[in-house]
Amino acid sequence: MQPPVGKSYHIAIVGATGAVGLELLDVLTRRGFPVQKLRLLASGRSAGKRISFRGEELIIEELREDSFRGIDMAFFSAGGDISRRYVPLAAAAGAVVIDNSSAFRMDPQVPLVIPEINGADVKQHRGIVANPNCTTAVTLMALYPLHLAFGVRRIFASSYQAVSGTGARAIEELRRQVAETNSGAPVTAEVYPHPIAFNVLPHVDSFLANGYTKEEMKMQNEGRRIMHLPDFRASVTCVRVPVYRAHSVAVSAEFERPVSVDEAREVLAKAPGVDLLDEPQRNLYPMPLDAAGKDNCQVGRVRLDCALENGLAFWISGDQLLKGAALNAVQIAELL
Ligand code: A2P
Repeated sequence: MQPPVGKSYHIAIVGATGAVGLELLDVLTRRGFPVQKLRLLASGRSAGKRISFRGEELIIEELREDSFRGIDMAFFSAGGDISRRYVPLAAAAGAVVIDNSSAFRMDPQVPLVIPEINGADVKQHRGIVANPNCTTAVTLMALYPLHLAFGVRRIFASSYQAVSGTGARAIEELRRQVAETNSGAPVTAEVYPHPIAFNVLPHVDSFLANGYTKEEMKMQNEGRRIMHLPDFRASVTCVRVPVYRAHSVAVSAEFERPVSVDEAREVLAKAPGVDLLDEPQRNLYPMPLDAAGKDNCQVGRVRLDCALENGLAFWISGDQLLKGAALNAVQIAELL
């Protein structure tokens, strides 16, 4: 099941035409991943279209049950329904699957991995490794090193999530609504239930019986698995904002041990995959416009939380198509 070390791999990307799929092509190129052959898979609508990879024109094929013959590794980024149907077929055909959907994230047989945090969990895979939710991944990049220093108990957080997290159609919807508003035309909403241009929606993913959304509960559920902290608690409000790319999260975290801002900054300055950007007097703090296109997540506005015992408040921005999706997936592939 595991491809032999030192070779070049036959890779498939399911959802190759999507926002994450296109980013995957770029990350594989940038990191010099040893790709021998690449198969690009999408819906029948895209079959026959061309995408260039390392100077070569590749033809997109329609995803089929037999698409995974001879494939060593498959990246899936075409939504939960496609993953539920095709991931088991890909794994049965001998590919190791890195799945970006939420379909297998809570399956105890499937490791859920952020390489900087629980990379060793990858070893337990049985053909499938899950890539975490994007908002959770960005948040944990800062929270986990603070946890190692102070022992996290619980967090309260609000997210500011870019439309590219919803996919290519949502990026187009924001562009169109900005143009419609500017020209005085009626604003049409197709992807979201309300206009996203010049608005914010306290609604990401579907609502659950407890009043939270699925997306909001991922922070607690996935955070527990990734940090190996079964008692971790997270109360989150996820908000979609009219930003094209990069998610931000405002976090208040309560720890077991006393905290200090200097120590927290020192920890974050050394943390892998994180850039500390915390000079508010000079107007320096993380922002999605800066974080977009960067591999590292940016953290700043670190301060003692005035409402929590042993509490720290901070703000993090990270490119959710990279650390929250394509970059993390390729880092998992590198571990494999
Ligand atoms: P397609 O472009 O052919 O629709 P995004 O998250 O940016 O919206 O992208 C979703 C990705 O999932 C796209 O690559 C899309 O391909 C792919 N996809 C959607 N439906 C299917 C399907 N039925 N079979 C295979 N791929 C699909």
